[in-house]
Parts: sequence; C-alpha cells; structure tokens
Amino acid sequence: MSDNLDVIILAAGLGRRMKSETNKVLHRAAGRPLIDYVIDLASQISERPPVMVVGHQREVVQQHVGDRARYAVQEPQLGTGHAVLQAVDVLGGDVRGRKILILSGDVPLTRPETLKRLVEEHQRSGNALTLLTMNLEDPALYGRVVRDSDGAVTKIVEAKDANDQQRQIREVNAGIYLFDSEHLSDNLRRLSTNNAQGEYYLTDLIGMLRQSGKRVGAMVIDDPVEALGVNSRTELASVEAEIQRRVVERLMREGVTFRNPSTVVIDSTVAIGVDSVVYPFVTLEGTTRIGSGCVVEPGVHLHNVTVGNNVHLKTGTVAEDAIIEDEATVGPYAHLRPGTQLGKHVKVGNFVETKKAVFGEGAKASHLSYIGDAEVGADANIGAGTITCNYDGERKNPTEIGKDVFIGSDTMLVAPLKIGDNARTGAGAVVTKDVAPDTLVVGMPARAIRKLERKSRKH
Ligand code: UD1
Ligand code: CA
Repeated sequence: MSDNLDVIILAAGLGRRMKSETNKVLHRAAGRPLIDYVIDLASQISERPPVMVVGHQREVVQQHVGDRARYAVQEPQLGTGHAVLQAVDVLGGDVRGRKILILSGDVPLTRPETLKRLVEEHQRSGNALTLLTMNLEDPALYGRVVRDSDGAVTKIVEAKDANDQQRQIREVNAGIYLFDSEHLSDNLRRLSTNNAQGEYYLTDLIGMLRQSGKRVGAMVIDDPVEALGVNSRTELASVEAEIQRRVVERLMREGVTFRNPSTVVIDSTVAIGVDSVVYPFVTLEGTTRIGSGCVVEPGVHLHNVTVGNNVHLKTGTVAEDAIIEDEATVGPYAHLRPGTQLGKHVKVGNFVETKKAVFGEGAKASHLSYIGDAEVGADANIGAGTITCNYDGERKNPTEIGKDVFIGSDTMLVAPLKIGDNARTGAGAVVTKDVAPDTLVVGMPARAIRKLERKSRKH
C-alpha cells in the first residue's frame, strides 16, 4: 500500500460493441459488476479512493459505485489522454513526488501482486512512466509496443494507425500505466488528435517524455489474461470464465471438493466450508453461504441461500432467499421459495414446494406437498400430497402446525388455520377449522352420489 499513489480508473467510454442498454462496466461477471473488481483492486494499491473518469451513463455508474470513488466527468469523450486530463484536474494540488496508476474500468482480472510489482519496478528504475505490456499470439486491436535497438520503449502505435510492419509486432500495450505525476498535466495539455481515430491518445505521452529526456520502461506480464478487457459479449464470457476458474481454485485450496469443477457456476460472492462436496452442474449465486461437510448434488441452484453444516442437497433442488440449518436433507427436486427456513434435521423431500415456511427442528415433508405461509412445529410430519390452501383469491392466509403433529396424506389445510400440538389428520382430510391439541380430525369421506352410465367402447 503506497500513500503517495493515486489511482485513476478510466470508465467514460461508451462500450458500443456490447450492444447493450447497460453500461459496460456494470455488466456482471461471476455475480458482480466489472467495475467492482477494479475498485477492489485499486483499494489494495492505494488507501485513497480512486478517481473514476465517468461520462457515458455517468448517473447510473456513480449511483452504483457511490463513495467508493471520487469522480471526474469527461464530456464528450475525446480519448484516453483527454480522460486522464480530467482526472488529473480533480486530483489537483501539489503533485510533486506523487505517482499515478491508471487502470481501466473494463479490465477486471489484473492481480494486485502484478500491480505491486509494477510499483516496485517503477521505483527501482527511476522511470517517469512504467507501463504493462504483454506478448499475444494475436495482437488484434491492441496498441503495438515499438522498442529501439536497446530495447527501450519509443512509442505505442494503435492498430488503426500502424503500418504493415508495426502491425506484426506481438508485444502490445495492456493499458495499465504508472506515471510520476509531475509531468503528466502539462504533457496531457499538449496532446493532439492527429491520428486515425481523431482522439487524444494517452499513449502519445511516451514520445513527449522521452523527448524531454525522461525514462520510459515496460514490464511484460506473463499471463495476458490479467489485461483482458471487456469490449464485447465474447470477452465478457472469457472474463467470467476466468473469474469462475479462480473462485473454484480458491475454494479447492480452502478444502472444498468439486467432482467436475469446469461445469459449476459459482459467483465470486459465495462461500463454502471445508469438506463440502459439490457435484457437476451446480449454480450458486448471490450471498449464498454453505457450511462444512455438505453434499450439493447435480443441478442444485441456490440464490442468496444460507446453508448450515452437514446438509444434503439432492439433485435438482432450487432455493432462493432461504435458510437451511445443520443436518437437513432437501430434495431431489424440491423448490424452496423466498422466506423458507428449515430447522436442524428437517427433511424436505421430492417435489415439495415451500414459501414463507418455517420448519421447526426435525419436521418432515417427504413427498409432493405445497407448504406456504406456514409454520411447521418441531418433529411434525407432513404426509404426501398435503397442501396449505393459503390463497382465498384475495389474501394469503397463514397456517400454524404445532409440534409432533401428524398430517395424513393428501390433507387440504384451508388457511387461516391452526393445528394444535400432537394433533392428527386422516388421509384426505379437508381441514377448514382450527384443530385442538391432541385431537384427531378426519373427512371429508367419499360417498356415493349417483350411478354412472357405462361408456360404449368405440373399438
Ligand atoms: C487503449 C490503448 C491501447 C491499448 C488498449 C488496452 C490508447 C490510445 N490506446 O486502446 O494502446 O492496447 O487500450 O486495452 O490509449 N475511455 C475514456 N474516455 C475516452 C476513451 C476511453 O474514459 O474518451 C476509457 C474507456 O471507457 C476504457 C479505457 O478508457 O475503459 C480504454 O479505452 P478503449 O477505447 O477501450 O481503448 P482502446 O482503443 O482499447
Ligand atoms: Ca478506442
């Protein structure tokens, strides 16, 4: 952490190639907007909040980022040099002896260690500018790094401005720069737009600095993925895949087993405890937290779910905004909707749907039920096919089921309704009135209504 270093994040561009209504830096990868990764990165390098250059859709971007950054407005967007100038003006004051690190809002994969190495290299070499470069098989649209016979960087030529020979160069500008700030402001004001895009290129500062006798250095990064920028949906997918890979790798280091790690989708915000086992094709999103010793079988999809220890989530279980406590068993194919809370040792079996339902310790609903707006007491047993009839066409009504209650198969619980502790219902009961504790209710029994005609067979 350097106290004489400020970070500037460029994020005013339009991101046309995303073909989106959403600003590029607000697109999500592994559950978080791209800009969040860059802001986290900046906070590991400098104590002061970064200066973000905003322009296109700046209201939404600023609303999302809030006081995690200071802001410089760039309107209109006339190029990267012009963008940095706006930020330097916001930094203002006495800039002598200060350093400025420039990042892009759409480059989220850079590792803090790499930036720390950049800072060290910059200090050690006495450069006025040190930039990150990388060697690419396909240098595509990146700016080409031109070096002289001594290996010193003389300039960067944008792909669109490059001649055939320059276009062959494999070493490209990663777009991450560390400047001594004192010459930045004057030089930025001297930039011109004499190039193929008619923009003020930040990269033209290299020539200016060298002309005034300053040193410019480049540090080559080994893993080009660290500088991968998001300009298109394809690149967004590549960035997300890399973040996923890092998340799963971290979880494995922390003691989680993955049966087939390349098939799971896990947000970077998710936590999983030691000795939990995650099967293929599992999706874990949002604030989901899973304890230790859990088994998460194929096709489980959790969004903002808190799971205790030693929980078994069987194939195809879907849950959202729910809490599942220790030793519970859920699924296969259970659907826990928002407000579901399963106590310790609860069992919710196949094709059971729950919503705003609180199950006490040891309660069971093993097969084919809908339990909504309900409380289920400890050790109660809900028979197959039980439905809480919670909706009367106008209102959602609550059902309270006491401790040790036994609900017979296919019972209709017409809410609002209270079933006292240790009560029972017979199979097929339609319960419309409260049941006292320790009481058995049955009905409605089927009764003969009329004789039926026999259908004549057509063939
Ligand atoms: C830039 C570099 C190129 C480098 C590449 C790395 C220049 C001239 N070129 O090219 O050498 O290889 O990055 O990714 O700098 N931005 C603004 N305001 C503007 C223009 C851009 O804030 O007026 C922001 C964008 O939102 C983006 C960043 O600056 O976050 C880079 O802009 P972009 O247009 O993507 O630069 P490239 O053309 O890719
Ligand atoms: Ca551009």
